[in-house]
Amino acid sequence: MRILSGLQPSGRLHIGNYFGMMQAALHLQEEGEAYYFIADYHSLTSIHDGKLLRSHVRDLAIDFLACGLDPAKSVFFRQSDVPEHCELSWILSTVTPMGLLERCHSYKDKVANGIKPSHGLFAYPVLMAADILIYDADVVPVGKDQKQHVEVTRDIAIKMNETFGEGLLKLPLPRIREDTAVVPGLDGQKMSKSYDNTIQLFEEPAALKKKIMGIKTDSTPVESPKAVEGSSILALYKLVASPADYDQMVQDHLNGGVGYGDFKKRLLQATSDFFAPFREKRAAITADPAYVDRVLAEGAEKARAVARKTLARVRDAVGLG
Ligand code: ADP
Ligand code: TRP
Repeated sequence: MRILSGLQPSGRLHIGNYFGMMQAALHLQEEGEAYYFIADYHSLTSIHDGKLLRSHVRDLAIDFLACGLDPAKSVFFRQSDVPEHCELSWILSTVTPMGLLERCHSYKDKVANGIKPSHGLFAYPVLMAADILIYDADVVPVGKDQKQHVEVTRDIAIKMNETFGEGLLKLPLPRIREDTAVVPGLDGQKMSKSYDNTIQLFEEPAALKKKIMGIKTDSTPVESPKAVEGSSILALYKLVASPADYDQMVQDHLNGGVGYGDFKKRLLQATSDFFAPFREKRAAITADPAYVDRVLAEGAEKARAVARKTLARVRDAVGLG
């Protein structure tokens, strides 16, 4: 089984990214041949500052490794080190119906949020299709909001196969973790960089405390039972606490007698504990910059060998070269 996924280097990772996508991707590296990459071409649709993009790429590489990406098990690389993605993207774009892209929620949402609709932003799903199809991926672990992009990838692959020959490209399947499909942010909406409601993976302790203690709650008095449905505290606690501690917190909500301040303290402790080993690993990796360079260079070489083969097959089928 070949597994593939990418993350955009567009700011610090948050726990929505971790539980929505990274944790599943990290488990899957034990089950098959995994290809994970830093989608820097994609980030060019929102970042036009070379220095900033480079520093985000570096941070993402360090963070992913700190969270458990194992370069001995996964091929880990930077997308722009494999320019074959772009050539395949162009070829795919020539069979991609405009209507397919016009229906993409992500594009519509980004434009609604004030991002200027460039051609790159519109064509974003075609590049994503190329990322996936160039590795003949079987499974694509992503958060729920990326599901449509994997479906578009399948549609484009079907179109290519109908046009240029059955079996030319492999149809991938999305893998969505339903239990963490949408991790809520500090304000109860979906956690997202764009909503400024995130808890970062490597939040400084003081900032983490401020954020968790500041989670919005209602004014139910300490002694009264509290709503379990729609509670961000409980939803977040479920991700980082043991099942027994989580059940206890649910009971304390139902019984009353415990205040939100207490629940927040428990959430703070469980969050710090959960990410403590990653923090340690991150400090070690940060101290060895050459290690990160080496991992990305080796990953690029392995990825490129596979990408070149697929691209040669496609070029041949469509009549290029
Ligand atoms: P953001 O919304 O903060 O810009 P991205 O769009 O860069 O995050 O998402 C990167 C990955 O993390 C995607 O696979 C996405 O589905 C997943 N993801 C992001 N936010 C969440 C969330 N709140 N809950 C679950 N998964 C998420
Ligand atoms: N669009 C994805 C996101 O924003 C990142 C991405 C780019 C990706 N190419 C991909 C994810 C290929 C999976 C497969 O999160």
